[in-house]
Amino acid sequence: MIRDLTDAEARAALPCKWGAVPEGTVPAWVAEMDLAPPEPVTDAVAEAVRRGVAGYAPFGDGGIGAALAGFASRHWGWEVPPDAAVPTADVVSGIRLALEVLCPPGPVVVPLPCYPPFREVVALSGREPVWVRTDPDSPDAALDLAAVERALDAGARTVLLCNPHNPLGRVPRRGELEGLRDLAARYGARVVSDEIHGPLTLPGATFTPYLSVDPEGIAVTSVSKSFNTAGLHCAAVVALEADDRSRLWSVPTSQNHGYSPLGMIAATVAWTECDDWLASLVARLDDQRAVLSELLAEHLPLARTRPLEATYLAWLDLRAHGVDDPAAAALGHGVRLASGQLYEPGLAGHLRLNLATTPERLGLAVTRLAAALSP
Ligand SMILES: Cc1ncc(COP(=O)(O)O)c(C=O)c1O
Repeated sequence: MIRDLTDAEARAALPCKWGAVPEGTVPAWVAEMDLAPPEPVTDAVAEAVRRGVAGYAPFGDGGIGAALAGFASRHWGWEVPPDAAVPTADVVSGIRLALEVLCPPGPVVVPLPCYPPFREVVALSGREPVWVRTDPDSPDAALDLAAVERALDAGARTVLLCNPHNPLGRVPRRGELEGLRDLAARYGARVVSDEIHGPLTLPGATFTPYLSVDPEGIAVTSVSKSFNTAGLHCAAVVALEADDRSRLWSVPTSQNHGYSPLGMIAATVAWTECDDWLASLVARLDDQRAVLSELLAEHLPLARTRPLEATYLAWLDLRAHGVDDPAAAALGHGVRLASGQLYEPGLAGHLRLNLATTPERLGLAVTRLAAALSP
């Protein structure tokens, strides 16, 4: 069911990921998968293009809210109303929109390390960031709720959550989310939860949609990571409060545009017709995390890695090798990885490795990284 792309196919299909590396270099950096999206999605989009669907998106949600509601109910037992989703171009724009329209003025708590656009959207919204550091090497790497409380007590009014977490691959526990909800309620703050990686929760972990514990939270999600459709552009800002939704729906067009009718079709089909495909994908990623453990044990025994609970992005602590930026070193040896410093400026010796590829390419990535770090 999962169709791997050959190098030539991947180079054509994924111009950002593969176009950024010369031929022969393994791209294991940006979060895209080296496999074809589900056929029902590509068929529906191709058929729509053939019918001439190439204009502006419709008014309304194009059916994505009902599709998301069905998906959330089947996968997580979360009953979200079908009118809870407001379309937006992508998850990053959705977070920016939520900050601009729904969040009180005041600083924004950003747990570190973080997905780099989190820092950018906070700056673009004109708010001060308050960094709350998670020790990325601690066995648990839980959100530091005491530090979040200190930030809220000092005036922060929004918390940006990444659930599950990129780059740590960790799934926040329900109790942790309840603690965050209680803090948000106590200080009149809002939590914006990026849930793009929720469907990629791996066996052994349980994803909890943040809004299922805090109806006043705001979630932003899309099918773009789990079904490999980032270029089609459609995401959803999910708000359970009717007043929030009417504020989102009434922004000027230029504040929320850029979602495409093709993206809406892709989202609707992925959330309604592709459960089997997703199950195969999760099984493949589960295998790949096992392959990665074997490869690391054999070729990079000094590497420390976190248990990968979700996503296809593995976080490696390579400080034992004494190299400040292992990703920079690896580039010269034929593999492009994402430096840990992108996620936490100044954090030396770490990197993020994208394992959503074939076992062969994953093998090349690890052996080349090992060659780059060998004395
Ligand atoms: C946590 C997280 N949020 C958002 C995005 C980007 O999503 P989009 O392309 O829909 O903005 C990514 C991409 O890797 C991500 O990992």
